[in-house]
Amino acid sequence: MPLARLAVDQFRCLAQVELALDPHYNLFVGPNASGKTSLLEALFLLGRGRSFRTRGFSKLVRQGEAGFRVVGWVEQGGLTTVLGVGGTRQSADIRIGGQPAAGAAELATHFPPLIIDPEIHKLLEDGPHRRRRFLDWGVFHVEPSFMDTWQRYHRALRQRNAALKPGIVAPGARIWDPELIAAGERLSRIRQEYLGILTPVLKDLGRRLLGADVTVGHLTGWGADESLEVALEKSFERDRRYGATQVGPHRADVSVRVEGHLAKERVSRGQQKLLAAALTLAQLAVQESRHPGRSALLLDDPAAELDADSLGRLLDVVRSLPVQLFVTALRPDLPGLGAPGALFHVEQGGIRRAP
Ligand SMILES: Nc1ncnc2c1ncn2[C@@H]1O[C@H](COP(=O)(O)OP(=O)(O)OP(=O)(O)O)[C@@H](O)[C@H]1O
Ligand SMILES: [Mg+2]
Repeated sequence: MPLARLAVDQFRCLAQVELALDPHYNLFVGPNASGKTSLLEALFLLGRGRSFRTRGFSKLVRQGEAGFRVVGWVEQGGLTTVLGVGGTRQSADIRIGGQPAAGAAELATHFPPLIIDPEIHKLLEDGPHRRRRFLDWGVFHVEPSFMDTWQRYHRALRQRNAALKPGIVAPGARIWDPELIAAGERLSRIRQEYLGILTPVLKDLGRRLLGADVTVGHLTGWGADESLEVALEKSFERDRRYGATQVGPHRADVSVRVEGHLAKERVSRGQQKLLAAALTLAQLAVQESRHPGRSALLLDDPAAELDADSLGRLLDVVRSLPVQLFVTALRPDLPGLGAPGALFHVEQGGIRRAP
């Protein structure tokens, strides 16, 4: 089972919470502003090392307190690993098994949560940054060399950009090109391979959720018909003018199409939510198939903005995935997911398990 226990201290409106969790389906019910999304935010933080609502940790500390702490007990193959994320307004502290972690990505190898919340349409509506992050999260779970490749590319990119700043002799920037090209083409190739793995799963979910053909395309961040080397060559004068590299996988994007039309331009808000949910659930299914028994889905207020039919289809798919579920709702009568293994009442920052 993924997460067996959770302890939350002074996080948002949650003062002190300690919960024994169900391995399959946990439902958190409470009125507006009771702390339901905050609880999911604590769970997300435990696996991703960041919030899905705010940058940095300062807003996460409970008002009037100096710092917060979220601790989770993950059970895998008879072993328990304790994950801990703490923060003050100035600093963060991530621990795995009591030892400081090398980075937030290490958390995700133990507890990799995905979220579907009322803001999920931003995956399609916002700029490429969110879709790149979506893509890279997926690659991270299927390709062991991803982190190394990503870091190599971004290190070379930082050095190159620094050398492109005014006052620096221009050819200096070019010495980073071989490394940038090698790591960049590799990064692009493993992203492409991931989309190949995701596509059949997404097509199936697109049919089930939207009754339509859903496809994804990889925009690499440079011209489709040329190598990264040629693209960098052509862009060099422009790079110098801007003082930053204008082409490469740091500019990549994912295009999402429904029945051949770009989703951004064609679908309603409700459909956008279903489409973004299909992308997230496809990613979750791939992730779970690669690392069984690890993944979790956080589902925040799924009834928001979805009609009864759409909600029913979404919950049908969710129920079919063998992952640990954390769901929030205003009322306990959420149809479609069956009876929760554990039902929790959230009230003014306190959480108690229903008998
Ligand atoms: N750092 C903080 N310290 C104390 N309270 C906070 C902090 N940040 C947010 N809150 C409060 O926490 C409360 C709960 O917010 P949360 O978003 O978790 O509620 P919710 O149960 O998801 O509500 P809704 O049903 O409206 O989505 C809000 O009233 C918010 O003002
Ligand atoms: Mg909420």
